[in-house]
Amino acid sequence: MAIKQHMKQWLYATTVVVSASATTSAWAEDAHSYAKLDEVSTPHLELDLTIDFDAKQLRGTATYDLLRHGDASQLHLDTRELSIQKTEIWVDGAWQETAHQLGDEHESLGQELTISIGEESEKVRIHYATAPTASGLQWLTPEQTKSKKFPFMFSQSQPIHARSWMPIQDTPALRLTYDAKLHTPKGMLAVMSANNSLSPERNGEYTFSMPQPISPYLIAIAAGELEVKSISDNVAVFAEPYIIDDAAWEWADTPAMITATEAMYGPYRWDRYDLLVLPPSFPFGGMENPRLSFITPTVVSGDRTLINLIAHELAHSWSGNLVTNASWRDMWLNEGFTSYVENRIMEALFGERRAVMEQALGYQDLLDDMSRLAPKDTVLNIELGTRHPDDVFSNVPYVKGQLFLMYLEEKFGRETFDSFLRQYFDDFAFQSISTAQFKEYLARNLLAKHPNVVSMDKVNEWIHQPGLPEDAPKPASDAFAQVEKQMQRWLKGGQLETADWTTHEWLHFINSLPLDISSVNMKRLDEQFQFTQSSNAEIAHAWLKLSITKDYEPARERLRNYLLTIGRNKLVSPLYRELAKTPENLKWAREVYQQAKPGYHPLTQTVNEALLYPEK
Ligand code: BES
Ligand code: ZN
Repeated sequence: MAIKQHMKQWLYATTVVVSASATTSAWAEDAHSYAKLDEVSTPHLELDLTIDFDAKQLRGTATYDLLRHGDASQLHLDTRELSIQKTEIWVDGAWQETAHQLGDEHESLGQELTISIGEESEKVRIHYATAPTASGLQWLTPEQTKSKKFPFMFSQSQPIHARSWMPIQDTPALRLTYDAKLHTPKGMLAVMSANNSLSPERNGEYTFSMPQPISPYLIAIAAGELEVKSISDNVAVFAEPYIIDDAAWEWADTPAMITATEAMYGPYRWDRYDLLVLPPSFPFGGMENPRLSFITPTVVSGDRTLINLIAHELAHSWSGNLVTNASWRDMWLNEGFTSYVENRIMEALFGERRAVMEQALGYQDLLDDMSRLAPKDTVLNIELGTRHPDDVFSNVPYVKGQLFLMYLEEKFGRETFDSFLRQYFDDFAFQSISTAQFKEYLARNLLAKHPNVVSMDKVNEWIHQPGLPEDAPKPASDAFAQVEKQMQRWLKGGQLETADWTTHEWLHFINSLPLDISSVNMKRLDEQFQFTQSSNAEIAHAWLKLSITKDYEPARERLRNYLLTIGRNKLVSPLYRELAKTPENLKWAREVYQQAKPGYHPLTQTVNEALLYPEK
């Protein structure tokens, strides 16, 4: 019943898109998928997979319901490094083998899989296996985990890696529901972006159902030595035993965050909200897999100062998972809106001072990125062609997107803008939309209702021009102004008063130290504040980066250890980038990298090899 209802919603969404602009339907614009959603779409998936840790392979079947929009007799799926054993169609109540063909390999898109589906079939079933090098999976041996008892594996499907672990119409313009059956070695627990049991029997057989239609990049899987600990009735943490208590303590505010977000933007529509702690090699800070966000352990800092990351992944339950970018050119609709909502959640729970500090840190990251990016890559509605979205990942969709929404809030007033956003989430719930659709909606529901406040020219400048508009908000934190004042005093020999500083102030302090700081002063700071040994991964990162620039030798061993134990790309790649600037450091970095590589995720490997071996 629930599924039928959602299929109806999906169909409705499709009709709206097609009739609104038949020639520029959202999926026709997704240059990163071979799918032809306007011919046949796949509203439901059933997975049956064996997780084979010895072979580093997922093996089994993917079965799709077919929804025909015309008389096409072929289905086009995305794949990457998959072995396709057999394809079948369901006709007249029985499975029947059918022909398929794999296209040439495209470096960023993978391979098109074309399956003959005839005119009558209702389902298609693909028997397949993944490659050990699948770009969307990481396989860890027991030795690479904390307890060393069980292996661990996890997926990271966004943006276009779902196709490396299942044949799929891998475009965010698609929405589908799914059921899954997973087989693991006994004693391990498998979880998915679906309904996870809180008291699972660890018998090696797990079944899942995701009844709400989501986009392919949100299908997720992980398996390992996982325990469960509840924070509240609707929030629990899944983690390896070593960190489960710490993580549950760190994220105790999550239920309050859900309540605060619902008050601003409407109901949380995904039933439970659970958090999964990944191994330190997880390449991102977090990933908003529906019902089960995947989170790096590097934010379990012991002082709850990095929980904006949880606010961020939770915010995606509205911006991203409920209203979804139709293509990767529209990613700012996911990340910009989410960064804005994240900051509103932080303000609601912890007040303006902390929210503004976080805005200011993001703003600085944006300015840093913009100074090294080509102007065309600082556009919100970015021109990607068939470039891999991973290759152009930056703070632009996040922070420039957030600044745009802050700008609209400032111009229209908070009350008006809040009700606009809330309505937006309702009107596009469970739909995928393009930048053009958003602009049309904005024009009709905000600009036209409050004339002469913001022009469409201004909106177009934000969305289609490089850099920042002259009148863009410039987040400025009083707390940080105090930090800067103190720093000036300290540089002249005075004392620092840091008793009430949190991670935020420390990050700002380290990031704004003068680049000509003497090694004597570096040493003095380190002795007093133990930056080199900081167990806060963000503070250690900022300090280690400065240490590379300043050739501060006492931090070398810590730097080596850091690069060998953490694989979160945002923390790792700026260090390799800095090291690559001098020949001696580059040589050292390549040695460390080769040692670290077996523990890095495929994404972390790709990005950092491009920095360390640019000639390849
Ligand atoms: N959805 C992203 C992660 C992502 C983006 C994966 C693009 C692949 C392609 C996630 O929500 C995210 O933005 N994570 C950030 C969180 C931060 C901005 C608070 C991260 O991982 O650092
Ligand atoms: Zn995000």
